Amino acid sequence: MPSVNKKAANIISILLIYGSPRRNGNTNELMNRFEKGLLNNKNINQDNLIIDKVIVRDLKFSPCIECRHCSTGGECAVQDEMQDIYPRLISRDFIAVSSPIFFTTVSGYLKSFIDRCQRFWALKYELKKRIIEKERKGIFISTAGSDSETIFDCSRKVMRAFFDVLYVKYDKDFIYNKVDSKGDILKKPEALEEIYSYARNLIIR
Ligand SMILES: Cc1cc2nc3c(=O)[nH]c(=O)nc-3n(C[C@H](O)[C@H](O)[C@H](O)COP(=O)(O)O)c2cc1C
Repeated sequence: MPSVNKKAANIISILLIYGSPRRNGNTNELMNRFEKGLLNNKNINQDNLIIDKVIVRDLKFSPCIECRHCSTGGECAVQDEMQDIYPRLISRDFIAVSSPIFFTTVSGYLKSFIDRCQRFWALKYELKKRIIEKERKGIFISTAGSDSETIFDCSRKVMRAFFDVLYVKYDKDFIYNKVDSKGDILKKPEALEEIYSYARNLIIR
């Protein structure tokens, strides 16, 4: 057996999806903490760790155009940078998604990104084709300006639907209220510690 194959089998890959339009904003800081925890994770051989980042605001992609092409063969007809994202969504061992709350749900960037995953919905529920064999876990990271207890409900539903079509188990969310201006999250060291410690102790497989 060539050693290359053995090495590939040991690789642990994590996909980080950044859904905020704001550079270095609150959810970005939380993602940084998550990444730092992974880099100090004792359960993961660091030589085998791949951290793959998708900054949604930098992607050139269109929203779903509802042509329903995916209902026939499971492919997306829109040829743009989402085509490069699809295999990464399928192959990674763990997915972390972050977004601020905008008008009670995820950012428009992230929602458009998720809508472009309709092809995975079509594959799973219309075409009944399982193209993702991996058992994976995922988390959602979010902040909101208000102190409303229900402000994350809608985003959680969106994330549940997104993870469902990707065969990802929704492991946990990290959601924080009263975090509005840039840097507000840095005034909540317990939030930063919570996410760091989760990532540091995470067992991927
Ligand atoms: C367009 C827009 C809509 C927002 N809507 C809400 C909202 O409905 N509820 C809320 O609590 N905060 C709302 N906020 C505040 C953001 O959720 C908050 O500032 C968040 O911490 C930003 O995270 P980020 O720095 O990672 O982008 C909104 C902010 C913007 C710019």
